[in-house]
Amino acid sequence: MTLTLTALATLLSVIALDKRPWNSPSMGLTILDLFRNTLFIYCALRWTQRAFWKIRSRGPIGAVLEFYSEIRRIIYGYILRVPSVRGQVREQLGDTLSKLSAKLIPVNQPHHLSLPEHGLDEDDVLAELDKLAKLDHVNWEEGYVSGAVYHGEEDLIRLQSEAFAKFIVTNPIHPDVFPGVRKMEAEVVAKVLDIFNAPPGAAGVCTSGGTESILVACLAARQKGAAERGISEPEMIMAETAHPAFRKAADYFKIKLHTVASPAPSYQVDVKAVGRLINSNTVMLVGSAPNFPHGIIDDISALSKLALQSKLWLHVDCCLGSFLVPFLEKAGFKTQPFDFRLEGVSSISCDTHKYGFAPKGNSTCLYRSAELRKYQYYVCPDWSGGVYASPGMAGSRPGALIAGCWASLMSLGNSGYLDSCIRIVGTTKQIVCAIQRVPELNSELEILGNPLVSILAFKARNLNTYHIVDAMTEKGWHLNALQNPPAIHVAVTIPITKVWERLIDDLQQVVSEEVEKERARAKAGIKKEPTSDTAVLYGLAGSLPNKSVLVDLTNGFLDLLYKA
Ligand SMILES: *Cc1c(COP(=O)(O)O)cnc(C)c1O
Ligand SMILES: *[C@@H]1O[C@H](CO)[C@@H](O)[C@H](O)[C@H]1NC(C)=O
Ligand SMILES: *[C@@H]1O[C@H](CO)[C@@H](O)[C@H](O)[C@H]1NC(C)=O
Repeated sequence: MTLTLTALATLLSVIALDKRPWNSPSMGLTILDLFRNTLFIYCALRWTQRAFWKIRSRGPIGAVLEFYSEIRRIIYGYILRVPSVRGQVREQLGDTLSKLSAKLIPVNQPHHLSLPEHGLDEDDVLAELDKLAKLDHVNWEEGYVSGAVYHGEEDLIRLQSEAFAKFIVTNPIHPDVFPGVRKMEAEVVAKVLDIFNAPPGAAGVCTSGGTESILVACLAARQKGAAERGISEPEMIMAETAHPAFRKAADYFKIKLHTVASPAPSYQVDVKAVGRLINSNTVMLVGSAPNFPHGIIDDISALSKLALQSKLWLHVDCCLGSFLVPFLEKAGFKTQPFDFRLEGVSSISCDTHKYGFAPKGNSTCLYRSAELRKYQYYVCPDWSGGVYASPGMAGSRPGALIAGCWASLMSLGNSGYLDSCIRIVGTTKQIVCAIQRVPELNSELEILGNPLVSILAFKARNLNTYHIVDAMTEKGWHLNALQNPPAIHVAVTIPITKVWERLIDDLQQVVSEEVEKERARAKAGIKKEPTSDTAVLYGLAGSLPNKSVLVDLTNGFLDLLYKA
C-alpha cells in the first residue's frame, strides 16, 4: 500500500516536473504540486513511523540483524533458482518423498478407488473397517504415543459411541428440528465458562477444534479493532512458541504477526519485548497456558496488566491446558493465574477434545462478554436463500459430536477431571523427577523451564537430541521432536500414566547407547555428524536461510495424505 502510494507520488512528481521547468518561478504551486507534496509527506511520515516502530521494538542492532536475515533469505532464494541447483534439489526432494510414500502408504492392500458397482453387505463393510482400524500403527493403546489419544478407555468410548448413535442425524443449524442438540451445546459452553471462572455476562461458542477456536478469537479481535478503532492494518504479538494456529489466523485474516522470543531459563514469553512491539495498529496479544513445545505457562498476569494498560485484546490459549490447568489448584499442584479472574483476559480457547476427553473435533472459545463474541458471528441479511447466519466458520455441523462432548463432560464430572489431573500431572512430575535425579539421565539431559502441567520438554547437553528421538522411535515410541532449540517433548496422557517407568527405562538405555556411540566416534576421530533421519531434517532446516525447500517437501507430504 505504502509502496504503491510512493510510486504514485513519484509518478506525479515526474509529470509535474515536465510541466514546470525549475527556472520559471512565476508559475507558483499548481494543484498537482500540492497533491504530490501532500502524498510525499504522507508516505515519508508512514515510512518514518514504521522505521521508528521497528527500532523501538527490536532495538537498532535487532533491526539491523532482522534486515540482514531478510537479505540472506532473498539471496539464498535466488541461489535456489539457479537451474543446476534447482535440478539437484528437485531430485533430492523426489527421493525423500518416495521414501516417505513407501512408509505411509500400505502396499498389498485392496484399494477402493471408485464406488463398488453394488453396495456391500453390512458384514463386508464392517470387516473392511476392522482391517482399516488394525493397519500397522504406532501402539497408542499401550501408551507409546505422546499426546494424540488423551483418554482412550473403553467405558468412555462406549458411552461416546452411544451418544453418537442417538444423535447421528442431527445438525444444530436447525435448532427447532433438533432442540436437544442446541441445549447440549449451550450447556457445554456454560460448563467450560464455569471452570474458567468467567464473570457474569461472559459467553462462548463451540467449534470443531483448537485451531478453529483460535481462528475465531483472532477474527473477533481484528473485527473489534476495525469497528472501534478504525484499524485497517491490524497487528498481533505473540511468543514464538505459541501454536501455529495463530500464524494461520494471521495469514487467513491478513493480520501482521510479530513473534517474541521465550528465552531460557523460564521459557516464558518476554513480556517487556511484547510491550515494545505494541503500536497503534496492535489489536491482540497472545499468551499460552501452557504452550505446546515446552509445556510452559506464560506470565499471563503480566500480559493481562499490559493488555489493560494498552486497552488491548488478550487471548489465552488453553487449548492444551484444557481441563487440566483449571484443576491444578484443587489437585494440590503449583499453578499460576491464567483465567478470567485476570481482568485483562478477553478470550480463552479450551479444547474439550484434549484433556476434556471429548471425541475429536470439539473445542470451545470463551469471551469475557457476549459483545466480544458478536465480532465472530457471520450474518448475511440479503442472500436470495433467506437471511443467513452462523456463529462460527462452519455451516452445517454434526450434532452427534455435540452429544459425544456433552456426554463426556457429564460422565467425568468434577471428580473425574480432578482425578485425571492428579494422575496425569503427577506422572509428568515423576518423569521430570526421574530425568533430574537419575545420574545417567541428568548428566546428559536438561528439562526446559519449569513445566507445571502435562507436557515436559528436554534437550541433550552434549549428544545430538535428534539421535535420541530416532532411537526412541526404534523402540516403538512416538515422541515429538522440537526445534530452536533442538529438544524432545512428551505430552502425558492417561495411557502414558500406566507405562511411564518403561519410558524412563528406554530413555536411559538410549542415552547410554548414544554416549557409547559418541565415544567411539570421538576415538575414531569422526566429527559430530547427523546420522539419523530426524537429525538430518532438522539439521538442514536450521541451517537454511530460506526454508522454501522445506516448504516444498512439506507440501509434498501433504499431497501424500491424499494419495489413494
Ligand atoms: C493442540 C493445540 C492447539 C489447537 O490444536 P487443534 O489440533 O486444532 O485442536 C492450540 N494450541 C495448543 C497449545 C495446542 O496444543
Ligand atoms: C526463498 O526462496 C524461494 C525459492 O527460490 C523464493 O520464491 C522466495 O521468494 C525466497 N524467500 C525470500 C524471502 O526471498
Ligand atoms: C463439536 O464439534 C462440531 C464440529 O466438529 C462443532 O460444530 C460443535 O459445535 C462441537 N460441539 C461442542 C459441544 O464442542
